[in-house]
Amino acid sequence: MSTPDVPRDVGTGNKKLLSWVEDMVTLAEPDSVHWCDGSQEEYESLSLKMVESGTLIPLNPEKRPGCFLARSDPNDVARVEDRTFICSENEVEAGPTNNWMSPVIMRQTMNELFSGAMRGRRMYVVPFSMGPLGSHIAHIGVQLTDSPYVAMSMRVMTRMGQSALDVLGDEGTFVPCMHSVGAPLKDGQEDVPWPCNETKYIVQFPEERSIWSYGSGYGGNALLGKKCFSLRIASVMARDEGWLAEHMLILGLESPQGEKTYVAAAFPSACGKTNLAMLIPPNGYQGWTVSTVGDDIAWIKPGEDGRLYAINPEAGYFGVVPGTSMETNPNAMKMMEKDTIFTNVALTDDGDVWWEGKGGEIPDHLIDWKGNDWTPNSNELAAHPNARFTCSTLQCPSADPAWDDPNGVPISAFIFGGRLSNTFPLVYESRGWQHGVYMAATMGSEATAAADNQAAIRRDPMAMLPFCGYNMADYWKHWLSLENKLSDAPKIFRVNWFRKDAEGNFIWPGFGENMRVLEWIVNRVNGRGPADDTPIGIMPKYEDITWEGLDFSTESFSNIMTVDTEAAMQEANAQESLFNSFGERLPAELEKQRQDLKARLIE
Ligand code: GTP
Ligand code: SPV
Ligand code: MN
Repeated sequence: MSTPDVPRDVGTGNKKLLSWVEDMVTLAEPDSVHWCDGSQEEYESLSLKMVESGTLIPLNPEKRPGCFLARSDPNDVARVEDRTFICSENEVEAGPTNNWMSPVIMRQTMNELFSGAMRGRRMYVVPFSMGPLGSHIAHIGVQLTDSPYVAMSMRVMTRMGQSALDVLGDEGTFVPCMHSVGAPLKDGQEDVPWPCNETKYIVQFPEERSIWSYGSGYGGNALLGKKCFSLRIASVMARDEGWLAEHMLILGLESPQGEKTYVAAAFPSACGKTNLAMLIPPNGYQGWTVSTVGDDIAWIKPGEDGRLYAINPEAGYFGVVPGTSMETNPNAMKMMEKDTIFTNVALTDDGDVWWEGKGGEIPDHLIDWKGNDWTPNSNELAAHPNARFTCSTLQCPSADPAWDDPNGVPISAFIFGGRLSNTFPLVYESRGWQHGVYMAATMGSEATAAADNQAAIRRDPMAMLPFCGYNMADYWKHWLSLENKLSDAPKIFRVNWFRKDAEGNFIWPGFGENMRVLEWIVNRVNGRGPADDTPIGIMPKYEDITWEGLDFSTESFSNIMTVDTEAAMQEANAQESLFNSFGERLPAELEKQRQDLKARLIE
């Protein structure tokens, strides 16, 4: 075994951290250890090193200054939910929606897998803060990784480096996040651009509040501050401490009169959070401003005034690229003009990037995301559908002035939405908190968009199915319990941008036009806006929505708002199996809401 050269001055005297790093070095046997300080120089030297090793391709500095392209291994392109484990002491604590394995067995497995896993590589010590440095809502984590791509990405996605160590101090606690791509190098063995392992494990120990991730270098599998910490582990911390960790965007809406309203919205992965967070108001909305606090994760705490306050724990965006255009998301397009890491998009002959849905002319020749020649006649996609951009929040043109406020922003509404071709209307409001929690808990989304309108619906409660670190029934109980802690609880809404007509076309134009729905929501939470009480919830009438600048007929409105009683009853009945899977742990309030809905539908 080679002796790792641990630098003498590592920027912290935190004994717990120092001894954990020492233990992990002994286990994984890296060749060297680098403590990240988070500086620009460090970022640049990491990128240089990866350009030399072939992991990063620098893009044309005239077209995309400061930008790089990474191509992952074709078998390492997205989160791996079936390899994700919640290892609580008891299986019932993980609940029926999570993969569980005994922590004793899993610890043994991790020890075996990580033993010598970093041989031939450098270990990066990546201290980071989720949330503004020093905020009472923020928490510190430290990731150990043998991937320079991950270290570099963490600098963009979090407040990373010495500043996080300073907040940690000598006595502070942190969430330990151990990560390896699982590809040790033998003496003289040549490296590949994207090392990873066929065997993958994404493991959370909720009681110990620790994370072990093995075998993948991609996104939520490897940037452990994101889903593993900020959702799976943080949801457990939030349950214990009385707050919420949610898969939500946060946006601000300012009216021409200067009235500012913040809302948080949960949509499953790849269902439009980034788009909505950066929305540009359409024609007819002069004087309105939409501003972005976050696009993926919200940490939300009750304030002393009885309202909920939210921060975005992240400091960067890791957004889906395909489908992003000047039509769908101009703010994201501007963000990606410089200082961005692209992963799995296509490369143009002049050193720029391209993807499906970018708009404009389709190039005659590209190098696709797998590194192969591509022409418009190719049968393959040029960019992977889950290709992503990584860039700093500071580059977001619509950033809210309070995006970095350690106290967070006050939340007036929660919005929940899935991808549903049928039955579900454009928007409706809950009749109260318990009904709202029921609406969110039973949310579904189509896993695959089948052309025949028969797409399979997967239940994705609160868009947290892959991210809740404990028993989902207890999570619902936690949500229900918040009502009594708040004197001014947010109103709860369901939206659906994805309803289709008989020919399979989206009825609603979506994107910027979603502003019209947001305006009705803002009116409702600020005590304005007439509405109809219907069996499924509170709904706008045609004349309650602003239509100036959009040609949308009363007939189209009726097509997207009408809920067939029969279909609604079928849906209420279909929810039974979800609820039954939780047995005794299901909060009785939710089953009562389901029965009440059925009774209202029969009336
Ligand atoms: P994660 O980053 O995976 O958590 O997902 P996200 O929710 O941020 O997803 P994202 O915004 O990247 O979702 C993009 C997908 O949603 C693309 O397929 C878009 O075309 C689609 N989308 C977003 N907004 C709308 C809309 O208003 N209408 C329609 N029809 N599609 C939309
Ligand atoms: C998601 O899948 O919800 C994401 C992308 O936001 S990842 O960070 O890879 O989980
Ligand atoms: Mn997400």
